[in-house]
Amino acid sequence: MSTDVPPRRRYVKVRPVEPRDFPGIIALCERTYPGSPPWSASQLSRHLEIFPEGQLVAVDRGQDVVGYAASLIVYWNDYAMDAPWKEFTDGGLFTNHDPVLGRTLYGAEVMVHPEIRGSGIGGKLYEARRALAERLGLLRIRAGARLRGYAKHAERMSAEEYVRRVARGSLRDPTLSFQLNRGFHVLAVVPGYLKYDAESLGWAAVIEWINPAVATAAELAAVPRW
Ligand SMILES: CC(C)(COP(=O)(O)OP(=O)(O)OC[C@H]1O[C@@H](n2cnc3c(N)ncnc32)[C@H](O)[C@@H]1OP(=O)(O)O)[C@@H](O)C(=O)NCCC(=O)NCCS
Repeated sequence: MSTDVPPRRRYVKVRPVEPRDFPGIIALCERTYPGSPPWSASQLSRHLEIFPEGQLVAVDRGQDVVGYAASLIVYWNDYAMDAPWKEFTDGGLFTNHDPVLGRTLYGAEVMVHPEIRGSGIGGKLYEARRALAERLGLLRIRAGARLRGYAKHAERMSAEEYVRRVARGSLRDPTLSFQLNRGFHVLAVVPGYLKYDAESLGWAAVIEWINPAVATAAELAAVPRW
């Protein structure tokens, strides 16, 4: 991908995933998580069969995939707060998608091409995800935010302390700060979320955005303070 165009001036469009996007999504995964197996075409096509509206890409003018966000609907009571990513996504297959009982849109994946991060593409994917939750009348969006900057601080502080500092703005985490700036708050800090993730050492913050059009006053008041 050329980096001639300054990030701020890049055109991108967010739209639902189509099968022609699969090679681009796989290449993006390989760039984002080198050394980890990327999504396979058969997993991606399963996601499209199960919940097509929940699968989004950001594409540039040439229809190259520069960003990707995958979601499913879960019935939250089926899961422990500290369940790992594998459980929330049924090992990445999304066969646990439950649009009947579920009121929670679960953010299973979000990634932007490393060369053009910081140009608003992640924000656009998050806006589209929020619009989806609103359109479907869901109560909330939840996700595990892997604590990408934590390994560098792990000798000096616990993961909880790290999250507290990120939430208060005295530290910046490349993922969690982005999410907190988009209306999410932290519910819990959990170990073992992505077991082999060296940057987070497996730690994640369970994060939530509440749909104010659907939430009760009690649900809105229950938002924890970090
Ligand atoms: C998290 C992620 C999707 C954000 O995507 P993005 O396109 O960089 O997001 P945006 O440009 O909309 O916002 C990034 C924020 O970082 C700031 N930023 C500035 N320069 C930046 C840079 N060079 N790189 C990244 N972010 C930068 C932006 O100004 C923005 O700040 P804000 O939150 O105060 O608005 C992206 O960093 C990513 O793909 N990370 C790797 C995968 C990952 O960890 N996913 C999350 C799994 S839980």
